[in-house]
Amino acid sequence: MQKVALVTGGTRGIGEAISEKLHKDGFIVISNYSSNDEAAEKFSKRTGIEVLKWDVSDFESCKTGINQIYEKHQKIDVLINNAGITRDAPLHKMTLENWKKVIDVNLNSIFNITSQIVNKMRENNFGRIVHISSVNGQKGQFGQTNYSATKSALIGFSKSLALEGATKNITSNVICPGYINTEMVAAIREDILKSIIDTIPAKRLGDSQEIAEMVSYLVSDKANYINGASLSVNGGLWMD
Ligand code: CAA
Repeated sequence: MQKVALVTGGTRGIGEAISEKLHKDGFIVISNYSSNDEAAEKFSKRTGIEVLKWDVSDFESCKTGINQIYEKHQKIDVLINNAGITRDAPLHKMTLENWKKVIDVNLNSIFNITSQIVNKMRENNFGRIVHISSVNGQKGQFGQTNYSATKSALIGFSKSLALEGATKNITSNVICPGYINTEMVAAIREDILKSIIDTIPAKRLGDSQEIAEMVSYLVSDKANYINGASLSVNGGLWMD
């Protein structure tokens, strides 16, 4: 029986590559997105992957979206918590609004989604959960107190969930990507981005496919015994 995978933020950037890879691997993939209808439609037309629009920072919207998936596909076997945003500014310039927005989208979403899926995974005695964190959750980054706080929080969340799910054949793991060639990274000021690339031992940005490959492995049967791990894919930028 085909397994069902939900990828949040799954129509652009790293999420797009993850959705496509899992689709190629034979999963029924549902790619969630929050706002960019045009990109989602283009993505869906190009790949044939089902897209569903809802705001992951809103608990009730998550409930509605997840129930729609259950009605159509009966189950969710694989969850990729990928949706995330940046609102960069040093703390002395950060607004409360930009603090809260990042916490809501990157962190509160993890509760909103995962808590509403994990019970069914427990009933089914199967689940593969992967959280997309960041190198900046491991090492910190100038201008990212909000983002880094959420991304390191995912690591603690994932480890706790790994303990809770282990006897139910549910694994929870984290991938910490480095700087990947996406719109999010392209938005960094050119001179700053250049100085960041200079610090990457590989001297290049990563590719979304390089993250998707790791996700593919973690949700495959080859990784059944990997639980509570945090795996870095960052060109050597941070070794942890
Ligand atoms: N370390 C120390 N000091 C720094 C610094 C750094 N890394 N970066 C900037 N500064 C200093 C500057 O030298 C400057 O000092 P002076 O005022 O004495 O000249 C001061 O801080 C202000 O610098 P900016 O002009 O850059 O400040 P700004 O407010 O205009 O911009 C910023 C702040 C938007 C955060 C900008 O620094 C920036 O874009 N930094 C990169 C942040 C980043 O890496 N974001 C990643 C986004 S992608 C992503 O998040 C995906 C992922 O997971 C990796």
